[in-house]
Amino acid sequence: MKVLGIETSCDETGVAVVEDGRTVLSNLISSQIDLHERYGGVVPEVAARAHVQALNPLLEEALERAGCRIADLDGVAVTVGPGLVGALLVGVAAAKAIALATGVDLIGVNHLEGHVYANFLEHGAPVPPYVCLIVSGGHTMLVHMAEEHRYEVLGQTLDDAAGEAFDKVARLIGLGFPGGPALDRLAREGDPNAIPFPRAMADSGDYDFSLSGLKTAVIRHVKAERAAGREVDAANLAASFQEAVVDVQVKKTLDAARERGAPIILLGGGVVANTRLRERIEADAALAGLRVLFPSPDLCTDNGAMIAAAGWSRLVRGERSDLEIGADANLRLAS
Ligand code: KG4
Ligand code: ZN
Repeated sequence: MKVLGIETSCDETGVAVVEDGRTVLSNLISSQIDLHERYGGVVPEVAARAHVQALNPLLEEALERAGCRIADLDGVAVTVGPGLVGALLVGVAAAKAIALATGVDLIGVNHLEGHVYANFLEHGAPVPPYVCLIVSGGHTMLVHMAEEHRYEVLGQTLDDAAGEAFDKVARLIGLGFPGGPALDRLAREGDPNAIPFPRAMADSGDYDFSLSGLKTAVIRHVKAERAAGREVDAANLAASFQEAVVDVQVKKTLDAARERGAPIILLGGGVVANTRLRERIEADAALAGLRVLFPSPDLCTDNGAMIAAAGWSRLVRGERSDLEIGADANLRLAS
């Protein structure tokens, strides 16, 4: 069963063809980073327009690389939320047009479910229950899944998302946008224990997160160094900030898995490309006797293949969306 996956929720246009929810026949991404860089963030109107321009050529190329025609598809999966509504609508309109023209089954997918199902592309479908840590530019969330497609949100960020914090700190030390990957690289040259940044809510006894205090502590540190006439050691700052984020995320994720009796941890979202997070959770989960799965870095950030994988898992259970589906900027994971 070949499913086309379309992702346009933010600043990457992603189109992929995936067979049986596992085999990636093609997976193309057109990034808009260059367009948004000079604004230091994603501009919604610019994003929507860029999706319109990118989508048709990308669709053609994705089909060609997959060696199939539109008529060979068995389903079309599209991100319906959460995300920027104007950006989402571009993908939704395209998916509906394909479904209407060809009669192929349509399925709307929650973007966050896509991040979870990115794992299924490479690791197959693990048997639930699992605890999922979803960390991206827009979300930071711990979720318990007693079965597939059923999400119990255990906790989330009360302020900034993890990726947002990475991007803001990266900008502060002049690393450009989006700064997460650059900060990750720089941190490898620094000492994670150089600056004792706060581990907000590490012992709060719940599964919520808060990152704005850490961001403020970083700003305060930079100001204090400058006021004292010292140069900021950017590598030490990056490593220490990253360690503070990762410490809390790893601790809470393992606590949640133990408390829920879930033997498997799934990670998803752009921040899961972070090398330190991958390293730390792998080591700590092994000590705790838990299995941890994460996608390869390319499949952590937004892409169409993860949407096709999630859509396939719903289509094979007989689910379909009708042609009336719309985009929902604040779509929640359903329990
Ligand atoms: O999942 P994603 O591609 O888009 C959203 O759904 O938001 O996540 C993008 C976020 C950005 O904030 C980016 O800086 C962050 O993921 N990111 C990273 C790394 N690679 C991407 N953050 C830390 N370390 C990385 N290696
Ligand atoms: Zn995402």
